[in-house]
Amino acid sequence: MPCSCCAPSSINDLDCTFDAASAAKEAKRFLKRGAVRRTLRLIRPLLALPTPLASVLDIGCGAGAAHHELLRRGAAMLAVGVDVSAGYITAAASNSHLLGLREQTMYHQLDFALHAAQFEPAAAVIMDRVICCYPDLGQLLGAAAERSTRFLALSFPRNNWWVRRIGRAINSVSVVGRSSYRFFIHPEPEVLRVVRAAGLLPVESCTFGAWHLVTFARPAAPAAVPPLQSS
Ligand SMILES: C[S@@+](CC[C@H](N)C(=O)[O-])C[C@H]1O[C@@H](n2cnc3c(N)ncnc32)[C@H](O)[C@@H]1O
Repeated sequence: MPCSCCAPSSINDLDCTFDAASAAKEAKRFLKRGAVRRTLRLIRPLLALPTPLASVLDIGCGAGAAHHELLRRGAAMLAVGVDVSAGYITAAASNSHLLGLREQTMYHQLDFALHAAQFEPAAAVIMDRVICCYPDLGQLLGAAAERSTRFLALSFPRNNWWVRRIGRAINSVSVVGRSSYRFFIHPEPEVLRVVRAAGLLPVESCTFGAWHLVTFARPAAPAAVPPLQSS
C-alpha cells in the first residue's frame, strides 16, 4: 500500500522504506568508520585485483559504501550508483562530494530492473543486500549480471531457519506499519541459475552472518586462433 510520505510509491515501497533519515545515518557512519565488515568482505576480491577496475556499477547502492571504498582505495576508477530511494541517492552523492570523489561518480535514482538498458556495461557490478528487496529476481539480477563485463559481487540472504525467522519478523513489522515492503529470500539455486544464464560463473563464495557473499566472473573469451602460416 502506498505510504503517505512518498508519491508516487516505488515498487515494494522501497523509496519509503529506505528513507532519508536512515540514509543520512548510514552516510555519517561511513565517513566515521568506513564500510561495514560484510561489505569489505564482499568487495575483497575486487580490492585484490592487480589493476584498478575501469568502472563499477553499484546497483541498490544505498549510501554508496561499496563503491566509495573501491574508489578511495584506488581499486576502481569510475563508479555509477543506482538506487530507487531518493534519500539514499542524495546521501551517496553527498558522501562522494565529501570524500573528494565527485569527478569519479555518477548517480541515478531509478528502478534498475526497469531501466537496465540505459546503462553501459561495467567491469564490475556490485549488489550488496539488494535482491532481498525485490520480488522479481530474474528481472533485476538477470539485467544486472548482463551489465557486467568481468565481475559480479553479490550478497543475498541465506535460506536457513533463523534467517527465515528474521525475514518473517521484518515482514510482520511491515504489515503492522501498513507498509507494502517485503523481504525476500530467493533460493540460492535460483540465484545461481539466473547469474549463470547471463554467462558468469561463481569463483569465490562464503557466508557472513545471515548472508551469502558470492563473486562471479565472466570467463575470458577464448584466444583468437592464430592465422595459418603459409609455406
Ligand atoms: C538493504 S539496502 C542495501 C544498500 C547498500 N547496498 C548496502 O548494502 O548498504 C537495499 C537498497 O537497494 C535498493 N534497491 C532495491 N531494489 C532496487 C532496484 N530494483 N533498483 C534500484 N535500487 C534498488 C533499495 O532502495 C535500497 O536502498
